[in-house]
Amino acid sequence: MSVLVTGGAGFIGSHTAVELLESGREIIIIDNFSNSKPSALEAIKKITGKDFKFYEADYTDRKVVEKIFEENKIDSVINFAGFKAVGESVEKPIEYYTNNIYGALILLDTMRKYGVKKFIFSSSATVYGDPEIVPITEDCKTGGTTNPYGSSKLFIEQILMDLYKSDNSWDISILRYFNPVGAHKSGLIGEEPQGRPNNLMPFIARVAEGTLKELSVFGNDYNTKDGTGVRDYIHVVDLAKGHIKALEKLEKENSGLFIYNLGTGTGYSVLDMVKAFEKATGKEVPYKIAPRRAGDIASCYSDPTKARNELRMDC
Ligand code: UD1
Repeated sequence: MSVLVTGGAGFIGSHTAVELLESGREIIIIDNFSNSKPSALEAIKKITGKDFKFYEADYTDRKVVEKIFEENKIDSVINFAGFKAVGESVEKPIEYYTNNIYGALILLDTMRKYGVKKFIFSSSATVYGDPEIVPITEDCKTGGTTNPYGSSKLFIEQILMDLYKSDNSWDISILRYFNPVGAHKSGLIGEEPQGRPNNLMPFIARVAEGTLKELSVFGNDYNTKDGTGVRDYIHVVDLAKGHIKALEKLEKENSGLFIYNLGTGTGYSVLDMVKAFEKATGKEVPYKIAPRRAGDIASCYSDPTKARNELRMDC
């Protein structure tokens, strides 16, 4: 079985590439290194002892995507390529919508042309907006996204649902990630955002290593146990394994369209994360309380029951 992985040099893509190779599948990666480095590809080879085909290209380039389908026998596609910085998306909506939505459309159109109809999409808990309840189930209302990044995920989900409605021979899995963190146990791949990190864990890591002075905790007056924001932090390798389970389901059955939350079901506050990091590393993480960050919500964590039951996810 051969899987095309777009964005396979990135944080979640590289960890999933490792799991795919270790499951015995062949992979083809396309990545333009817009938020990743070539060294991730070498690391994937080193960890797995396996080789794979790689195209350095933009997945919005229809000609290249067609060439990849022409040159390879592809059975399924996992789409990780996409811009993901919330703040930047507010500044650059056209770039975000073009890259994320147009890129997904190019892929889907080319897949249709070549008769490849198994697709896994990297979505996000951001599609729930400010959730009506926590823990969040897949049946919770979506919408109310507050930035173009989140809206691009929501729109692509809608496109996939419409596509499936038009032709139910597609097999589609929409995976809504909560907060992916951590790194492969080899230490060879992990999260390496370029520039100043936006997300909590890479920021904490930079403070602990001394590159950044202190963490700003964005608000301590939320309606949560200690007033700081609560999120569902899932280990990136567990998340990567979720993709293998989702793919197995798409490969086995003429399964249809599925939506799964990928999270742990447990919410941790920002201060819980700081304390846990200090305990695990023995390094102090200085922090100060800062004003709330625009667009943040108090609590967001998953009900992972559906993935646990149907995908046998255990994390
Ligand atoms: C963010 C995105 C979300 C995206 C996800 C991907 C926003 C508003 N949302 O989620 O759409 O899918 O990343 O991983 O950016 N925090 C601090 N100080 C920091 C950084 C974060 O206190 O320097 C707090 C935040 O206020 C939040 C928690 O840590 O309570 C987690 O923040 P973050 O890692 O940015 O993730 P989300 O905001 O949950």
